[in-house]
Amino acid sequence: MKITFFSTQQYDKEFFIEHNKSYNYELDFLDVPLSKKTADLVADSPVICVFVNDKVDAAVMEKLAARGVKTIALRCAGFNNVDLDSARQHGIRVCRVPAYSPEAVAEHAVAMILTLNRKTHKAYNRVREQNFSLNGLLGFDLHGKTVGVIGTGLIGKSFCRIMLGFGCRVLAFDVIANKELEQMGVEYVPLVDLLPHSDIVSLHCPLNEQTHHLINCDTITMMKKGSMLINTSRGGLVDTSAIIAALKSGHLSQVGIDVYEQEEKLFFRDLSGDIIQDDLIGRLMSFQNVLITAHQGFFTREALHQIAATTFENIHALLVQDAPTQKGAILV
Ligand code: NAI
Repeated sequence: MKITFFSTQQYDKEFFIEHNKSYNYELDFLDVPLSKKTADLVADSPVICVFVNDKVDAAVMEKLAARGVKTIALRCAGFNNVDLDSARQHGIRVCRVPAYSPEAVAEHAVAMILTLNRKTHKAYNRVREQNFSLNGLLGFDLHGKTVGVIGTGLIGKSFCRIMLGFGCRVLAFDVIANKELEQMGVEYVPLVDLLPHSDIVSLHCPLNEQTHHLINCDTITMMKKGSMLINTSRGGLVDTSAIIAALKSGHLSQVGIDVYEQEEKLFFRDLSGDIIQDDLIGRLMSFQNVLITAHQGFFTREALHQIAATTFENIHALLVQDAPTQKGAILV
C-alpha cells in the first residue's frame, strides 16, 4: 500500500524509512506542501501523510476524495489545518500524533525564555568578536518570578513542572484544571487575573475558534507592563500587529515565537537568497528583544522517532480496524 507524504524534509524521510521496516509500505515523499494544485499528485495512494502547514480545507478534501484517498495521517499534534467536517462528509478517516514528546516543546519554550532573558545569543556573538563587555546583557532571576501558563495539557503540564523547578510561582488558565498540577502548587486563575500578575506568559493551548487572537490589543493591555510573551503553540493565537504595537510602546519587553500566523509561506525553507514579502515578520525580525525560531519546538530525536512510530501505528489501526492507538489519535 502506498502512502504519499507532503511537505517532506530530509529528516522526515530518515525517521519514516527507519520505522517502515516493520510495515513495508510503499512511501512516496513529496517536498511540496498539500494544496488544491498539488492534491492531484496522490495518484494510487489511499493514505496521505501531512504536516502543520499543509492546508486540508474543503476544496482540497474534495479533490483528495475524488482521487480515492481514504486516510489522512497528520504527523503532528495540532489539527487546526484540517476541515474535519468535510472529511466526515467524504468518509475520509483522519488521525494525528497526540503525544510524541511534550517535553520537546516545553523545553524549547524554556530555552526561548532563557535566551531572551540572559541574551546568550548576543553573548556568543560578542565573545567571538573579542567583545567581553557586559553592557546590554542584563537579565533577571527567574527564581521568584510569576509565570502564567495558558493551556495545561501535555505540553503546558511539562512546562509548568520545569518552571516550578526554577522556583517560579506558576499561574494557569485552562478550561479544565489539572489536579496533579494543583497539588504541585500551580494556581488556576481566570485569564483576567493571570495576565496582570504574570512576568512571563506562555501559550500552550490549541488554536480554535475560541482561542484565535486570544492575545490581542485588549488582552495585551491587561498584561503586566514589561512582561515577556512566549508562543510555541500556534501563530493564530496572537494578533501579530498588536504584538508589534506593544513592543514599540514597551508594554511587552520581550517576545519569543516558534510559530507565526503566516508561517506556511516561510517556515521549513531556506529563503536566505530571497526578498521576504511579509512585512509583519520583517518588522518582528527587526526588534532586538524578539526571538523567532521556525517551528522547531518538536524537533528532537526522541520526538521524531515517536512521530514516525505513532503515525504508522495509526495508519495500521485504521487499516486493520480496532487495533489500539494512543488516546485521541483518531479524529474522524
Ligand atoms: P493538549 O490537547 O494536551 O493540551 C491543550 C490544553 O489546552 C488542554 O488542557 C485544553 O483543555 C486547553 N485548552 C483548550 N482550549 C482552551 C482555551 N480556550 N483556553 C485555555 N486552555 C484551553 O495539547 P498539547 O499536546 O499540550 O499541545 C498544545 C499545542 O501545542 C498544540 O495544539 C499545538 O498547537 C502546539 N504544538 C506546537 C509544537 C511546536 O513544535 N511548536 C509541537 C506540538 C504541538
